[in-house]
Amino acid sequence: MSKRWYNEHRRDPWRRKAKSSGYRSRSAYKLIQCQEKFNLIRKGDTILDVGCHPGGWSQVAVELGGDEGRVIGIDIKPCEPIQGVELLVGDITDFGTQEKLMKLLNGEPINSIVSDISPGLTGQYEMDQAISLDLVCLVMDFSLPLLNKGGSFVTKVFQGRGIEAVVEAAKLNFSKVQRFSPVASRNSSSETYLVCKNKLPKPRVKDMDFSIRDFVESSLTEDGFVTDSTESESLDDGKKGFTLHRARDR
Ligand SMILES: C[S@@+](CC[C@H](N)C(=O)[O-])C[C@H]1O[C@@H](n2cnc3c(N)ncnc32)[C@H](O)[C@@H]1O
Repeated sequence: MSKRWYNEHRRDPWRRKAKSSGYRSRSAYKLIQCQEKFNLIRKGDTILDVGCHPGGWSQVAVELGGDEGRVIGIDIKPCEPIQGVELLVGDITDFGTQEKLMKLLNGEPINSIVSDISPGLTGQYEMDQAISLDLVCLVMDFSLPLLNKGGSFVTKVFQGRGIEAVVEAAKLNFSKVQRFSPVASRNSSSETYLVCKNKLPKPRVKDMDFSIRDFVESSLTEDGFVTDSTESESLDDGKKGFTLHRARDR
């Protein structure tokens, strides 16, 4: 742990604020700031928190959903119990975890999906960004069909290749899509949040028969990058991700 990291960490006002307010993470303020700007969550909502560990966003979701609301949190890492939150441990991209969630929901639609999902970072920005992009697409493909008409969706994304295509794909499904960087995101951070409001009753494309992941993958290919799914499947530590290569003939 470097001295610089320690000093920045100690001085971080959001960390101090989170500690004194009883939030488990400074990230809690990122969701609070998204909510202040876009009014995503309403009292009584059923809310899904994807990548919820250690629980800051879930705590905020419980406050916003109120006594009539329901909050379900999922993460690969187990969380300490959070009052008012039903916690699932598992990989959201894994069929078994998805089945557990469906069972818990028992047909009840979700009103708001909040996802701060982030892969374990390797420090190699291009690779981390590609893995995160893939995760975001997989989360959207699985969870958007569970979201009620009029529902909202917010996800962390890392700036870089493929983000424009994710925004375009989101616009097929929501009436309002915007990128937003809460002040609680560190100045140096390349993270931003994709905020989608008012899910449309049907996607704008008639009989949409492609996934968001396919849409983003073909956009990356068109832009001169090819994705190699064989290599991405062989990533260890359960890491998934678009593997980007500059197309040789460009
Ligand atoms: C930045 S943290 C979330 C912090 C949280 N919003 C909070 O306020 O406490 C990102 C989380 O995403 C989780 N994650 C990454 N990949 C995942 C996956 N495939 N399925 C479920 N959770 C995942 C990580 O384990 C990590 O806890």
